[in-house]
Amino acid sequence: MVGSLVASALWAMLPAYVPNNAAVLAGGGRPIDGGRMWNGARVLGDGKTWRGTAVGTAVGVLLALVLNAIVDPAATALGVDLPTFPLRAAVGLALGAMAGDIGASFLKRRSGRERGAAFPGLDQLDFVVGALAFAWLLAPAWFDEWFTLPAIAVVIVVTPILHVVTNVIGFALGVKNEPW
Ligand code: CTP
Ligand code: MG
Repeated sequence: MVGSLVASALWAMLPAYVPNNAAVLAGGGRPIDGGRMWNGARVLGDGKTWRGTAVGTAVGVLLALVLNAIVDPAATALGVDLPTFPLRAAVGLALGAMAGDIGASFLKRRSGRERGAAFPGLDQLDFVVGALAFAWLLAPAWFDEWFTLPAIAVVIVVTPILHVVTNVIGFALGVKNEPW
């Protein structure tokens, strides 16, 4: 019961988990804010680029398509019901994850934090809020079916743990500049 809730909630979030990591690998090029300042600080900063955002979103959507191709054997193997992703849900989760992270950068710059500075709490949950909000907007019926309140609770508890673990690994591998 609890196991199947955790499995389906995390499966439903996978297309939101990969975009920010893919962006780290793909980042570079023109910043989204074009270098513009606002009240003495960058609007977003050089850490939010068009290329990182586009590649991150595309990788998240592609992962959703791959998951759709293997969902039946995976559900059988795990003995649980797992979601398939309509394209609108896949785009919502992936683009929303990037948008949440971009929104967090905006808040970091407004609060005087330089690019790369940590903002505990926000760093771990920004992309979750963005992904859930965009998925709800783009695919509301699918969202209601899979993101019940208990499922959302699982996501909010488990995601920060997974996020810290993947970022520490990325830092140790030298692909990420900071471990957050
Ligand atoms: N990245 C990108 N585009 C995005 C998100 C991330 O190009 N939309 C790339 C950038 O190269 C960025 C790296 O991934 O430096 C790490 O992402 P993140 O930690 O989110 O950015 P920071 O550099 O820490 O910048 P900020 O303080 O604004 O979050
Ligand atoms: Mg960072």
